[in-house]
Parts: sequence; structure tokens; C-alpha cells
Amino acid sequence: MNKVKNEASSNLDEDAFDLLLPEKIMMKSKRFFTPASIAIQAAKWLSGSDNRNILDIGAGVGKFCLFGALNTNSNFTGIEMRSHLVKIAEDVFRYFGTKNAKIIHGNITEFQFGEFSAFYLYNPFHENIVPFLRMDDNILLSEDFYCIYIQHTRAQLATAKIGTRLATYHGCNSEVPASYKMVDKFYGGDLKFWIKEK
Ligand SMILES: C[S@@+](CC[C@H](N)C(=O)[O-])C[C@H]1O[C@@H](n2cnc3c(N)ncnc32)[C@H](O)[C@@H]1O
Repeated sequence: MNKVKNEASSNLDEDAFDLLLPEKIMMKSKRFFTPASIAIQAAKWLSGSDNRNILDIGAGVGKFCLFGALNTNSNFTGIEMRSHLVKIAEDVFRYFGTKNAKIIHGNITEFQFGEFSAFYLYNPFHENIVPFLRMDDNILLSEDFYCIYIQHTRAQLATAKIGTRLATYHGCNSEVPASYKMVDKFYGGDLKFWIKEK
């Protein structure tokens, strides 16, 4: 079994990951979950030369955390408010025996960022303001929630230590406080790397 898992993790790519998902979720994977190559690139940059505690804000089925955990020695935590996605992420981490990835079920507004020194954001709150981009109807979405989530995330990121790293994928980056400087961008600016400078 271990040999199968090791082979599975070394052969893991976009399509192999999707095959682990229930069909209904698999059909949404391309739109809502980070491509494997982007997850690996962002996770490696967020890790830097030392290993970090990295938080994926709105972690979905844990795809960023899984690819990060398999390709770096950092510790990855995802927070996700949809309980059915949390359950899938837990199954996936268990399947690979991934010790450096975990997922927490909850709303970002209940969460303090203190123990983390790097963050990943794939446009998690956007579906609150663009109804046709909703993943499903399992959670309440509204423009008011969008403002609350952005405000909380920005305030938490603002209190992080100097040197904190942040990677954003898509979005208008309104969660990013002015104290973060963009230090690199890729794919026409879809992927941005930021460092907290003051
Ligand atoms: C675009 S998906 C990104 C998933 C994952 N980060 C990835 O890159 O594959 C955004 C996720 O954020 C979650 N989310 C949205 N608002 C949230 C909130 N307030 N607290 C926790 N999770 C949230 C959604 O349920 C969704 O699964």
C-alpha cells in the first residue's frame, strides 16, 4: 500500500488529482482550484530557504496544501467553510499520508493568523459579489459578507511580522494591505508574490 501511495504522489499531476475527487466536485476543479504547477511554484516561493507555516485562506479540497506539502518541507494549513470540501481534503491528505498538511473547518472571520508566516489566497471571497461564479448554494453569500471577509483578512495580514510572504492568484487584491510590496508577478499578473515590508 505504501509503495502504491509513494508512486501515486510522485506521479501526481493535475489529472491524477482530479480523479481523486467525487465527480460533481471534479467538474468544478478547473474553475475553483489552483492548477498544480501554480500551487507548486507558489508553495516553493512561500517556503523560501527555511520552512514556514503556510495558511491557505479558503482551501477548497486542499489542492494547494497537498501539492505544497508534497513539494516542500513547510507546514500547510487550509481553512475552509464548506464542510463537504473539508471532508474531501481530509481524505486526500490521509490517502497520501501527508503529515505536513491539514485542513480546518471554519469561517476565516473566526480565525487569527498569528502562527503563520506565509499566506496563499486564490480569490476566495469573489463568489460573494459575482453570483454566476458561485461554486454551489451550500453557504450563504452576500456583498456584506464579502466586505466583512476582506476587512478581516486585510486586518490580520496587516498585523503579521515584517518579512511575511503572501502569494495571490487572480482577484483584485483588495485583501492585501499597503504594507506588502509586490516583488514578482507571473502569467500576466494572475500570480503575484508579495513581502511585508513595514
Ligand atoms: C477559489 S476556491 C480556492 C481553493 C484553494 N485555495 C485552491 O487554490 O485550490 C476558494 C475557496 O474559499 C472558500 N471560502 C470562501 N469564503 C470563505 C470564508 N469566509 N472562510 C473560509 N473559506 C472560505 C470557498 O468555499 C472555496 O472553497
